[in-house]
Amino acid sequence: MNVSLNSQGTSKKARAFDALTPDEIQKGVALLKPHIAEDATFISVCLEEPKKQAVQFSLKDEQFPRRLVFVGHDQTEAKVDGGFEAIVDLGNESVELVRIEVGQASINFRDVVSAFQITMADEGWQQAVNKRGVTNLELVHLEPWPAGGALHESIPSGHRAQRVIAFVKEDKTDNPYARPIQGLIAHVDLTDGKLAYLEDHGVVPLPPEGGRYDAASQPKLRETLKSIEISQPDGASFTVDGNYVEWEGFNFQLSMHPTNSLVLHNLCFRDGGENRLILHRAGLSEMVVPYGDIDPMHNWKHVFDAGELSMGTSPHELKLGCDCLGEIYYFSHHGVNWNGEVQTTENAICMHEEDYGLLWKHRDWVTQQTEVRRSRRLVISTIHTVGNYEYGFFWYLYLDGTVQMEVKLTGIVGVSAVESGAERPEFAPLIAPNLASPIHQHLFCFRLDFNIDGPKNTVLEVEAEPLPMDESNPNGTAFRSKVTALDSELDARRDCYPQRSRFWKVVNPNKKNRLGVPVAWKLLPSATPTLLADESSTFGKRAAFAKHNLWVTRFDEGAYNACGKFPNLQHEGGEGLPKWSAQDRNIENEDVVLWHTFGVTHSPRPEDWPVMPVEYCGFMLQPVGFFDRNPTLDVPPNQSCSSDEV
Ligand code: CO
Repeated sequence: MNVSLNSQGTSKKARAFDALTPDEIQKGVALLKPHIAEDATFISVCLEEPKKQAVQFSLKDEQFPRRLVFVGHDQTEAKVDGGFEAIVDLGNESVELVRIEVGQASINFRDVVSAFQITMADEGWQQAVNKRGVTNLELVHLEPWPAGGALHESIPSGHRAQRVIAFVKEDKTDNPYARPIQGLIAHVDLTDGKLAYLEDHGVVPLPPEGGRYDAASQPKLRETLKSIEISQPDGASFTVDGNYVEWEGFNFQLSMHPTNSLVLHNLCFRDGGENRLILHRAGLSEMVVPYGDIDPMHNWKHVFDAGELSMGTSPHELKLGCDCLGEIYYFSHHGVNWNGEVQTTENAICMHEEDYGLLWKHRDWVTQQTEVRRSRRLVISTIHTVGNYEYGFFWYLYLDGTVQMEVKLTGIVGVSAVESGAERPEFAPLIAPNLASPIHQHLFCFRLDFNIDGPKNTVLEVEAEPLPMDESNPNGTAFRSKVTALDSELDARRDCYPQRSRFWKVVNPNKKNRLGVPVAWKLLPSATPTLLADESSTFGKRAAFAKHNLWVTRFDEGAYNACGKFPNLQHEGGEGLPKWSAQDRNIENEDVVLWHTFGVTHSPRPEDWPVMPVEYCGFMLQPVGFFDRNPTLDVPPNQSCSSDEV
């Protein structure tokens, strides 16, 4: 029977993307352990999502398989990396274990701890630190980074490795990033458990100022801000069943994926009697933070926070009144720690409604009759810390059908200590005395698996085209909508063109609206950069997805990550999107997936220091002839502004 009990003891319908329970994870670990070495460590667990075909066309009450995907390291079995991926089927209790051949499994907590211990214990490193006037090692903060595509020549190929940089704190509560130890990089071989090579570019004095940002460290806190309270006396307008949500026509399931972070599954809109599918799956696919500075402290940095660090395994525990304001519903997340024990994050995903100002308004200028409605949106969000940075992923659903992804970037910028007079503002502007911050990019690639009213869709590029001044356009003012079908995968590597208002429209040619036009949604990009690094560089090869704002591929089951599954370390690139797209398959009237890269090029400001006010980037998805008219005419006026009182 396809019914389980939820924590309230009431029956709950089983759905395709139900979140993993602690019990399922424990069972999965127990089934897996006999197949891996005793000292194996875990990185992540997630649900192997049921096949798309099964989800879209399943019979009512069909039981979806519960298969868990574990990723970890197992160094006894293979002398080098020994990364594994295992699929554990809880139904027939089978285990399929696959050794990772291309790339490496991502870095886990034990790798970080090992890198710390190895660096701290190394005499050469200690001497280099002492040479810089730092004697109390307890005040040294270490930051291990992914080794960046190429290992130092002293580290044998296939080994796991990290590059460790260091900072000094005044005391245990200090912000370590205020005082970077310039010029010192420890190349740590995790496989051999040793510091393989110490890169030392010479002593630069520590910057003079601290960078504390906590309230207690500020000379005075302002007293002018009056409190804002959000209250919904009748409760929220959404309903939740497990991880299934319904709100104002929208319905979906959500999950936290080790690489893809917050994912929306089966996003539908209930339109009259019909539950119409829009997206089968929407989530981050990969992201990269390439540095532009030529300084050897930074010129190798291009972290894939999703694929190299499994960012989705460590969501914040969000706090009411701090991270989120109002009538909040929180989802917890269950994963594994490195030891294979269940790791629960309470309040990992926040969901609430926000008033969003004006929805629409018109005043008849003759009769003075006014109609006005207020907009609101459903916010579903999560926040991750990756070293010095925070990334917040915010999905917004609006009453008029608009879907938005907004990434919020905050935390602390990367830093360099610089001697007075040695500044290089074009590569690393000063943000505080003798403290510079290297120029860099944050590029996010979202995978949008559209299924608008069915699996077969077509992608059109639409832009405004100014027409030449001639007999048919004597005033020289005419412009029109130019529509080009993207018919093959190579044709569909596209870039933004804000001057021409370019966007991409996903249509279902097999389903027409009442005007006889195929129903559609558009992907509305922002004016966003692409990867600035050269195509033939390490960054360019490994982060090929970031060279274009749009890619469209045929749907491939389980192909979620733009750099392939395991981009960590020695992965040279070529996996994932470039490979899939190079097949140049037909994508017209096919099951298509859109991959949208967007982000920011960040030239840091003094105002970004010592902690950075949120910077935003993202995209919108909007219905185009999916509905017959403005779908919000039935939104009632607020009681205080019904039209007869105006
Ligand atoms: Co930045």
